[in-house]
Amino acid sequence: MRKPIIAGNWKMYKTVERAISLVSELAGLVSDVRDVEIVVCPPFTALDAVIDVTAGTNIAVGAQNMHWETEGAFTGEVSPMMLKQMGCSYVILGHSERRQYFGETDENINRKIKSAFRYQLIPIVCVGELLEQRENGVTEQVVRTQIEAGLKGLETSEIPKLVVAYEPVWAIGTGKTASNEDAQQVISFIRKVVSEMYGQELADQIRILYGGSVKPDNITGLMQEKDIDGALVGGASLEAETFAKIIRFK
Ligand code: PGA
Repeated sequence: MRKPIIAGNWKMYKTVERAISLVSELAGLVSDVRDVEIVVCPPFTALDAVIDVTAGTNIAVGAQNMHWETEGAFTGEVSPMMLKQMGCSYVILGHSERRQYFGETDENINRKIKSAFRYQLIPIVCVGELLEQRENGVTEQVVRTQIEAGLKGLETSEIPKLVVAYEPVWAIGTGKTASNEDAQQVISFIRKVVSEMYGQELADQIRILYGGSVKPDNITGLMQEKDIDGALVGGASLEAETFAKIIRFK
C-alpha cells in the first residue's frame, strides 16, 4: 500500500513570521492524522523557523529547489547538503515555474534528483504539459520525455522513495483542474513509463501526486482514483484551515 502524501508548495509567499503562524496553526489542526504524510515547502528564508516549529510533529519540511552540487561558486544557490543539515526531508524539483522562468532542463533536473538522493532528501519531481501541448494531443509524449530524461540512471534502491507530481501547467493557479479521469490517465501512464525503465514492482511503489488547483472540494474525487497517491498544493496550502481540509480528504 502506498501511503498518501499531501504536500504544500508555498512558492514565494510568507515572511518568517507568517510562516511560523501558518505552520503552528496547521500543526494543531492535523496533529491526529496518521495515515497521510504531510509536507510543507516554505521559501528558503523560512525553512529554519518552520523546521523548528514542526520538530516532533507529524509535519515534514521540504525545500522548493536546490542546486545539484554540494558547494561551490554558485551565487544565489542552495545545496542539498545545506538543506539536509538544516533538517529538510523533501525537495521539490523541476516545478513548471522553474522550467518556465528559470530555464530548468530535464538534464539539470536529473542531476538534482541524483544529488538529492545522495543526501537522503526525497525528491518530489514535477512533470506536466502546457495547454498548447494538451490541445495538440502530445501530453503523453511530453510527459514521457520528462520522465525518461529526468529519471535516467537512478539506483534501483532509490526508486521506491521517489515521489513524482503530475502538474498540468494549464491547471496551476488557474482554478482549472484536470478531471479525475484525465489526471488518473496521465498518472497511470507515468507509472507505465517508470515500469518500462525500472520494472513493474518498483513502479508500483512510487507515489505519484496530482497538482494544479487542488482544493478541499476536488481532493476527495481525485484521491479515489487508483493511481493518484496524493496532491501537491499551491494556493490552497497558504491557509491552515483550507490545507487541513485537503489533508483530511477522506
Ligand atoms: P496551485 O499550484 O495549487 O496554486 O494550482 C500547484 C503547484 O504549483 O504546485
